[in-house]
Amino acid sequence: MESEIVSKSSSIDGLSRVDGRLKVTGAAKYSAEYTVKGVTYGVLVGSTVTKGSIKTLDTKSAEHAPGVLAVITYLNCPNVPGYHLENAPPKGPLKIFIDDKIYFNGQPIALVIADTFERALFAASLVKAEYNKEQHQTELKSNIVNGVAPKNSKDYVRGQEDAYKSAPIKIEQAYILPTEVHNPMELHAIIARWDADDKITVWDKTQGVKSTQRNIAQAFKLPPENVQVNSPFVGGAFGAALRTWPHEIAAVIGAKVIKRPVKLVLSRADMFTSVGYRPHTWQKIGLGATADGKLVGITHEAAGQTSAYEDFTEGVVNISQLLYACPNVNTKYKLVSLNVNTPTPMRGPGEATGAYALESALDELSYALNIDPIELRLRNYADTDPLSGKPYSSKYLNDAYKLGADHIGWSERNQKPRSVTEKGWLAGYGVGSGMFGAYRGAATVTARLMADGTLILQTAVTDIGPGTGTAMVSIASEQMGISADKIRFDMGDSSLPPSPTQGGSAITSTVGAAVYDACTELKNKFKELNGGTDGTDNTDYAQVLKQHNLQQLEVTTASKGGAEQGKYAMYSWSVHFIKVLVNPATGVIKIDKAVSVADCGKIMSPKTARSQIIGGTIMGSGMALMEEAVIDHRYGRLVNNNFADYHMPVNADIPQVEGLFVNKPDPYLNPMGAKGMGEIATIGVAAAVANAVYNATGKRIRELPITPDKLI
Ligand code: MOS
Repeated sequence: MESEIVSKSSSIDGLSRVDGRLKVTGAAKYSAEYTVKGVTYGVLVGSTVTKGSIKTLDTKSAEHAPGVLAVITYLNCPNVPGYHLENAPPKGPLKIFIDDKIYFNGQPIALVIADTFERALFAASLVKAEYNKEQHQTELKSNIVNGVAPKNSKDYVRGQEDAYKSAPIKIEQAYILPTEVHNPMELHAIIARWDADDKITVWDKTQGVKSTQRNIAQAFKLPPENVQVNSPFVGGAFGAALRTWPHEIAAVIGAKVIKRPVKLVLSRADMFTSVGYRPHTWQKIGLGATADGKLVGITHEAAGQTSAYEDFTEGVVNISQLLYACPNVNTKYKLVSLNVNTPTPMRGPGEATGAYALESALDELSYALNIDPIELRLRNYADTDPLSGKPYSSKYLNDAYKLGADHIGWSERNQKPRSVTEKGWLAGYGVGSGMFGAYRGAATVTARLMADGTLILQTAVTDIGPGTGTAMVSIASEQMGISADKIRFDMGDSSLPPSPTQGGSAITSTVGAAVYDACTELKNKFKELNGGTDGTDNTDYAQVLKQHNLQQLEVTTASKGGAEQGKYAMYSWSVHFIKVLVNPATGVIKIDKAVSVADCGKIMSPKTARSQIIGGTIMGSGMALMEEAVIDHRYGRLVNNNFADYHMPVNADIPQVEGLFVNKPDPYLNPMGAKGMGEIATIGVAAAVANAVYNATGKRIRELPITPDKLI
């Protein structure tokens, strides 16, 4: 079935990944792969208790182990100036090696540095700690009663509170999402090298070289320009590399202590406790409707877990305020502080969790009403933003419903559950929608037309996988009339003109617009030079530059969104269709077919866009059927922090995915008409799967993942 994907993508127009050859041949270098002279190796030692403090630390035998250069703990760690800011809030990011406090199991208590990785790993096993253990709390369910509304988060009420309760038809259900861990293929890694007392270079896995530069500069009180951050290739991230984490600071400290470069690569087990996760979340949805399917009221309450030292909030309940036209909506959001590490945004942060609950509940309502789930969505279609009352900049979700329904074969579906079988398997169809804000921020791009007619574009953005370079080259190629193979896009380097962190599905819009604007300015500059005549292609550009004896023509353009952003409600939309087959005897669930349709404006790079949508669908399927980080609450410790026990979809689990686009431009967000697609690719998928399982089996599983044992 893999061939399905291959054959389809080869028929798609547009540029192949500009860095595809580098990536598949191994020539693309990731952070841990750089060769740095005199490099040493750091390994972190994690706490084996879940709450309390360190009573004694014995590092002697580790220090005397072969090749060991330093063992850094809170007892000997040099001062990190940025850790002692005045007026620092009581809660905040974990500061590494500052005291004996233990907030979660696996919290780093020591960094061992040695001349080889193996020696560091061995010495790390020799670090012995005794603890003053305190009673920990790691279970969400029994602690929901202790949840509190986070600061700056207000309960939302539109119209009448809990209006669903008095509606003619109503449903009220709770939905539970376990902790999900990003687990990108590339492990988080940093190489830190001090070039002088106040100057450092890092090769770091990050979604934002400029934010990492800022964070390291702040922590070590350095001028930002003295911190050089390189991250030209990132092997997946999904939000896990949005922040600067303690292991990055630890490597910088370590390099300072031993006066040599330190490479620190997290182990796969470390990845489960060091770089965030999508938090375990409980949600309750109340929906009320008239008998003809008009929503009367939506109530959405949620409680998500956070750490004991930091509040992590996300917009879990926002989607219920936004997705449907409904006069009465109220939402509440609480945080439950547990002895775990802090969560972090994970693809579709908040919305993916919220959409699972809302879109499952809407499906339940469709059965209560006996109305087709797509028809029910159309009857409650929002033509203006229900939250702000503003018109949408663009919304073609209804087109997406039609397109997806055709492609999945929705007409084969029967509204009566457990009524269709295929070769002895129960067949079912499900639908789920997603939405996410469409953003455009500020970015600066240098565009340099060279004497040979080639074009170089430069900005500090990173690419965590969606194919940013490819999209940027496509945009520039169209603007300049220069073929893509004559354009180079330089990125992932903090010394380049500023770009935002890659996240929030905003990069094609933000950096793409800056590329567009820089090309426009460059074209104008060329036209001026060329007596008022536009350039046509690279040969033409080269000739004119030669005539004027110019080595290059260069502009640096700062670009940001305009006033339109305040006038319109700007969102990207998606709808996911899933067909499942469920074995009635074993409960095994096979995704037979998935169709995801995105309304994300005009498509800048068809091949990478399609790949992005397919990836999001696969991730959402994992959320529905497999992913779950399990804590043994007796010890507060994860039991499946490895790829043998933490399941996620592989090729055989996802046979056939179609990624489709409405492909109509948004007139206001940016000059290209593009909107974001990274998050909406995942938002709504889990509900579509759960809804398909219900349609197939008549069993509504309200706690993810939907594993076979829950169906038999
Ligand atoms: Mo993301 S969760 O926008 O990296």
